[in-house]
Amino acid sequence: MDPRTWSRRDFVKRAGLAAGVLAAGGSFAEFLAACGNNATTGGNGGNLEIFSWWTAGGEADGLAEMFKIYQQKYSGVKIINAAVGGGAGTNAKTVLATRMQGGKPPDSFQVHAGQELISTWVKAGKMEPITSIWNSEGWDSVIPKDLKTIVSSGSDVWSVPVNVHRGNALWLSAKGASIASSSGSSNNLDNFISGLSKAKAAGIQAPLALGSSGNWEITMLLENNLVAVGGADFYKGLFTGKSSWTDNNVKSALTYVKQMFDYVNSDHATLSWDQAAKRLQDGTSAATIMGDWAKGYFTAANWTANKDFTAVPSPGTGGTYMIVCDTFGLPKGAPDHDNAVNWLKVCGSKDGQAAFNPKKGSIPARTDVPSSIFDPIAQQFIAEFKTDKLTPSIAHGSAAPEAFASGVNDEMGQFVQKRDVAASVTSLAKLADQFLK
Ligand code: GAL
Repeated sequence: MDPRTWSRRDFVKRAGLAAGVLAAGGSFAEFLAACGNNATTGGNGGNLEIFSWWTAGGEADGLAEMFKIYQQKYSGVKIINAAVGGGAGTNAKTVLATRMQGGKPPDSFQVHAGQELISTWVKAGKMEPITSIWNSEGWDSVIPKDLKTIVSSGSDVWSVPVNVHRGNALWLSAKGASIASSSGSSNNLDNFISGLSKAKAAGIQAPLALGSSGNWEITMLLENNLVAVGGADFYKGLFTGKSSWTDNNVKSALTYVKQMFDYVNSDHATLSWDQAAKRLQDGTSAATIMGDWAKGYFTAANWTANKDFTAVPSPGTGGTYMIVCDTFGLPKGAPDHDNAVNWLKVCGSKDGQAAFNPKKGSIPARTDVPSSIFDPIAQQFIAEFKTDKLTPSIAHGSAAPEAFASGVNDEMGQFVQKRDVAASVTSLAKLADQFLK
């Protein structure tokens, strides 16, 4: 813990421990060590190892912007970018688990707000609370209470949100503009499927780009469709037991996913989300359903929002916002503890979020970053985030424990091959019995 942010209670506790060392005949060095002041990593020296999965266009650029801000403030610190590629952290989370279990944590790592953070690393006692940093930085007045709640458990806060991504978005190239209606109730799943069918008849073989190499991309199609057919409250009820996974809405959501498969590229299982997005730029597809990190990808590749591409809520989900919230936390035993604390401060700062989010494709978690610095799609999303019904994503760690999310991903891998709606409903209900009760 950074001594500058000790609360009075922490100070009394630490000072008591340290005094005990001296009283027991310990040296002054041991006294300092007991104060937690033994690190060689003051504010301006040593390393800062940041772990994430941001390697694709847009996401890597956003991270680099935050590094720049950090480096301006702490020029003597060597930043180690320990990113492990693979969308949604498919590879990174495994590497992180090995490191955490082996007692070799990075200084700070990317983790989704919600269950991915709380029911894993916090529950296992592997994180330091950041409550005192949260308070001393005054984040209560600039970060919405709902976001604070999902990064909190017990009486502590465990990570700082850097952004809010929207998971339920449909991206259209100029070629695909006619595939979806831009607003209102006509932006529904039936109209979307018929738009895809027309585009195919007009000669675009695979109008809907899909990269499903991690399976989570299909989980996103499912979760968006669950909201589309059942509404936000039905969807949220699936995690509290109020809604049933054997409900007809689940069947119907899967049936729409199955219909979408008729319009996707045949090599989808070998492509990542960004390779799928590239199909829009190559002109081989005209639409893709993905989080707004796809916008970061498009703009990094020199496409202009609302000119080269547009976005609408994924079909049938207007008025709802599928939240994907990236945060950074402080693992216990972070080798460069004080540098990590300064990193968290940059992550939560106005400057940090203003530099990061326009490139990343997300909207800021803070409410005081001017929307004028964003592209028109982000400006629209910032406005909608304030009024839409918010739903947490399964695919991106917020709605359900990791074991459930990865079970759903595996099941969606089966579904895309077998396309058996009834079998998948049964499997999803089993997973819910096992992991959500
Ligand atoms: C999500 C993450 C986003 C984006 C995406 C694709 O899980 O929250 O920030 O990076 O994966 O990699």
